[in-house]
Amino acid sequence: MAPWWKHGIIYQLYPRSFQDSTGDGVGDLPGIEQRLDYLAWLGVDAAWISPMYPSPMADFGYDVADYTDVDPRFGTLADAESLIAAAHERGLRVILDYVVNHTSSEHPWFLASRSSRANPKRDWYFWKDPAPGGGPPTNWVDRFGGNSAWAWDEATEQYYLHTYLPEQPDLNWGHPGVQEAMLDVLRFWMDRGVDGFRVDVAYRAKVAPQWRDNPPNPDWHEGRDPYKRLLETYTKNLPDAHVVGRMLRDVVDEYRDRVLIGEVTLPPERLVAFYGEHDDEYHLPFNFNLIHCDWTAADVQDQVDRYEAALQSKRLNEGAWPNYVLGNHDVHRLASRIGPEQARVAQMLLLTLRGTPTLYYADELGMPNVKIPPDRVVDPWEKNAPGLGLGRDPARTPMRWTTGPAAGFTVPEATPWLPIGPAEAPTVEEQRASDDSMLALVRALIQLRRSSNALHAGAYRAFHSPDGVFAYERTEKEETLLVLLNMTGRSQLVPLPPHAAQGTMVLSTRPDRAREQVAYRVALHPNEGLILRV
Ligand code: NOJ
Repeated sequence: MAPWWKHGIIYQLYPRSFQDSTGDGVGDLPGIEQRLDYLAWLGVDAAWISPMYPSPMADFGYDVADYTDVDPRFGTLADAESLIAAAHERGLRVILDYVVNHTSSEHPWFLASRSSRANPKRDWYFWKDPAPGGGPPTNWVDRFGGNSAWAWDEATEQYYLHTYLPEQPDLNWGHPGVQEAMLDVLRFWMDRGVDGFRVDVAYRAKVAPQWRDNPPNPDWHEGRDPYKRLLETYTKNLPDAHVVGRMLRDVVDEYRDRVLIGEVTLPPERLVAFYGEHDDEYHLPFNFNLIHCDWTAADVQDQVDRYEAALQSKRLNEGAWPNYVLGNHDVHRLASRIGPEQARVAQMLLLTLRGTPTLYYADELGMPNVKIPPDRVVDPWEKNAPGLGLGRDPARTPMRWTTGPAAGFTVPEATPWLPIGPAEAPTVEEQRASDDSMLALVRALIQLRRSSNALHAGAYRAFHSPDGVFAYERTEKEETLLVLLNMTGRSQLVPLPPHAAQGTMVLSTRPDRAREQVAYRVALHPNEGLILRV
């Protein structure tokens, strides 16, 4: 029997924005617990919760000040335990975020480390003297604004490394104390029933960096993300990251049935290295390539086929299982990137490909980016590199549950931490009442995927189709489904492959399409995705 995370569907929720139970305008764990029935109704298998640990919130929780507790804004440890139990009662799994590369500068480990050069925790982080001529030890720049990745500490007269904000100092995974303490964090949560982890920037974890300058990026120009002006030759995707991946996996394997997911932004050919040579790193190194490629049939198919080829060709363990992601809290909303009509096609793609899908909360509603007035911007990235479209607030706004005040997210008197989006994206309540809604489509796709071995476990093979259409078949034993995705705004006529030339329509992204019998060819409406059973 395949492990649950192979046939399951993961749903990412951003705890600040799912449901507020206290009326302070910020979502929390008891709020999530109140909404678990929704997730069960939707049909997903696991909830991945972005960080809910105590944090000064310089990076909204990705600056952790204590890995084994809950921030009071989100509740208590008892609330986390209650949420895990309530999820399990409904057959849902819980995946936590694990911030591997850095802590908060307020974490007691860092406070000790910076307190003196002689402190036993000094080397839990990377401290360096100035370069011989003065200034930072290397030219490395930080991810949020492209300033030096080294911060000067007046008191101890050394620099420390921070790949992200100065409030997020990088952990030294080469230190046995860090290894022990951080690995115990995994055990702490697994002992409490957590079903897995999503490892933040897994490909940045450092054991023994080479302190060498990164080369300039020849493709960089003014107006691009300032951090991209250097290539990251010495700062990411190094062998160190695999060393750490194996350490994490060893601990996760001490427990049954847990999943280890890695956040790794790499093209397919390099991404697959994060499964490990012997299936000993990540079960699912996140595949973000469908987020970053052009949204055309040719490019999307190219990504899928390259990924499939990379998975097959490498002398990989049999455990290398694909996965796909179309949205998360770091990128613009799917519906804003590709438009509302293609967003429906994209959900059909995500939920019919071979590999575990991860859905980002409110994408099932087709929620677009929400416009954030300048005085409401909170994302440090937007603040440090304004106006380049890098800000992440627009994709992190509260879930829209009901047509009532504050969309049912919080109480009417509260100011939600980010604005609640306009009515362009109908609420859960409205969409549940309509058979034509995006939510109805996503739920139908989820039900179909769950009930179909071909979809959740079968083989994938693309077949020839006209330009602008991505067509593939999914097969498991006797069951074959064809997926035809028209990724253009014009009608298309798609010939069916000779061995599967007759079938029945199972589901269309267009609500008005009747279930027809088809033979030899199928006419697709503009922006239509269609599933056929042959
Ligand atoms: C990746 C996370 O997804 C992002 O939100 C965060 O800001 C950085 N890692 C730093 O932890």
